[in-house]
Amino acid sequence: MKHFINLKDIPSEDLRKILLDAKKRKKLRQKLNTLQVDKGAPLKGKILIQMFEKASLRTRMSFYLAIKQLGGGTLTLRSNEMHLGQGGESIADTAKILTTYGDGFMLRTDSDKKIHDFKKYINIPIINGLSPFSHPTQVLSDIFTVEEIKKKPISKLKICWIGDSNNVLNSLIAASVKFSFKLNIGCPKRFEPSREIKNWVKKNNKKIYIYNDPKKAVINADVIFSDKVISLNDKVNKKTKIKQFKKFSINKKLVSYAKKNFVFLHCLPRGNEVSDEIFLGKNSHVWLQASNRVHVQKSILLYCFGKLR
Ligand code: CP
Ligand code: NVA
Repeated sequence: MKHFINLKDIPSEDLRKILLDAKKRKKLRQKLNTLQVDKGAPLKGKILIQMFEKASLRTRMSFYLAIKQLGGGTLTLRSNEMHLGQGGESIADTAKILTTYGDGFMLRTDSDKKIHDFKKYINIPIINGLSPFSHPTQVLSDIFTVEEIKKKPISKLKICWIGDSNNVLNSLIAASVKFSFKLNIGCPKRFEPSREIKNWVKKNNKKIYIYNDPKKAVINADVIFSDKVISLNDKVNKKTKIKQFKKFSINKKLVSYAKKNFVFLHCLPRGNEVSDEIFLGKNSHVWLQASNRVHVQKSILLYCFGKLR
């Protein structure tokens, strides 16, 4: 049984296999309608239980479509409507019940420990649909989008992140190690990636490049990624943090340092970290980025269900 919890713990070959499968499946669906099932209905009769402790639009909808297109079904639970969320049932008992009723468990949580506690007791695959530490399904799908647009392996591209050192960046850093691409990070000194992450990169004999001047991070970039300055999980003084990120705002002037045909990506939802001109401009591929999550998550589901071709 395979879980999909953090990119750093998944072998590079498996991640590449997932992307290859997604590419093939996407191509084969060109003439199919949204809810038509892929040939062979590989997950026929299977149910994915999705549990959300936090808001979601894209992750919830894309997993719904993903399992449906594979011939299976999904049930969405809000933790506050369950005994677990009300404090009336343990993770151990909840996990055993989920195992009894379901075939897979996708969890969006405000606690990484909770995922690991579930893992101890559950006997079906767990997928991390965003935690404070990482957002692995988003980032693997983003690698797919970059390679689809640029028509080359990401290892041949200069990738830049302008923004907070949050869950999405942590997964992007893990991806930079797994897929061997150059990653420049532009953020204020106070909001650099944690020592733990920096040490993990070092341990893997790789490097990330951190700049407190956004221009330096953007120079010659093929791809610029960003995300909200304030994440769902942030318990900071929002006003102060937003002020510190002011000079990291992604606008026409900043992107002029990137390559002319740079690609702009943002997982959404967005705040004021990027101007409308860039977000809605010709270099932005954010809508394709969101739609690709369906394709990549289908292959993630197949990987977890032991059905990857
Ligand atoms: N990008 C993303 O995960 O969006 P949601 O929070 O809407 O799921
Ligand atoms: N970093 C953001 C991502 C949202 C999809 C958050 O955690 O809120």
